Amino acid sequence: MRNRRAVLTATATAAALSLALTACGQNSEGGSKDKGGDAKGGTIGIAMPTKSSERWIADGANVVKNLQAKGYKTKLVFGEDNPDTQVSQIENLITQGVKGLIVAAIDNKSLNNVLQEAADAHIPVIAYDRLILGTKNVDYYASFDNEKVGRLQGSYIVHKLGLDGGKKGPFNIELFAGSNDDNNTKYFFNGAMSVLQPYIDKKQLVVRSGQTALNKVTTLRWDGTTAQHRMEDVLTSSYRSGRVDAVLSPYDGISIGILSALKSDGYGSAGKPLPVVTGQDAELASVKSIIAGEQTQTVYKDTRELAKVAASMVDDTLKGRKPQVNDAKTYDNGTKVVPAYLLQPVSVDKANYRQVLVDGGYYTESELK
Ligand code: GAL
Repeated sequence: MRNRRAVLTATATAAALSLALTACGQNSEGGSKDKGGDAKGGTIGIAMPTKSSERWIADGANVVKNLQAKGYKTKLVFGEDNPDTQVSQIENLITQGVKGLIVAAIDNKSLNNVLQEAADAHIPVIAYDRLILGTKNVDYYASFDNEKVGRLQGSYIVHKLGLDGGKKGPFNIELFAGSNDDNNTKYFFNGAMSVLQPYIDKKQLVVRSGQTALNKVTTLRWDGTTAQHRMEDVLTSSYRSGRVDAVLSPYDGISIGILSALKSDGYGSAGKPLPVVTGQDAELASVKSIIAGEQTQTVYKDTRELAKVAASMVDDTLKGRKPQVNDAKTYDNGTKVVPAYLLQPVSVDKANYRQVLVDGGYYTESELK
């Protein structure tokens, strides 16, 4: 019950945010209800992966706001984590005559045909947060330094366990990664492992489950319940004695699932404290969990900034200007190196959430109550 409730709370928060945005007229799924644009620049199609996570709802709303401020109309769609749905949504946007596309892919390899249709219609495409693979028809990429996200998670674990302060361990750690069809997954995992692997090699960190290879630890579609079940299985098979001291989690929704499994197993009491649990996205439920002393850390990525970058990229491209990029070598999609603008992620925990998230205007103090 407790497990389910935690996952439901996160979903309910996302649903409430979605409702609020719909009420503001910012959420124009499948339609063109957006206000503010006078269509001087035409309509931009925005395809986001899912509404089940707050971050994508906020991303969508922020992209809409930025594009409207530049005089565009917008059509915003959410693919509900189904790659086929996303393909047909993008096809519809093309048919409706959008002038540009901003796409956060669900499955990084499923969009090749539909993006050929976009290219045939001379529609520029910006890959949003997640790189689209295997096609030349992606013009620019707006994201964060994804490898650094992983390094921040790995370093946080090392620091929190005191391994960098002279403690020798051994400590038990379990590893989780994101969806195997998301290009970011390997960057997050490799970044984290670049920090953790030396300690695993020295046996100061021990992965009792033995599940250390990326293909053994991925979580399809970043699903919290899937992660919860895997954590339950690992606790049953490998922790009937001893305890888990740290869990590498790549994303807040996964962290919430992991914490549910841990709490059901009796973690979170004085005699059996919760392990260090990382995360990503600074989602409301996870920031509250951090304040309550459950999740330990998250990696904050300011989606307001990402939206601004993506909106400028499409605007510049349509106006014949060269968008600003700061990385022209890292993001090879298998067909071309996609010019990228990468923003900086920030590690957040109980000690700095107020300074970063509240003073930075991402959340108000009362939202975090
Ligand atoms: C990734 C993204 C993360 C997280 C995850 C699950 O692509 O970079 O920040 O949101 O998807 O939605």
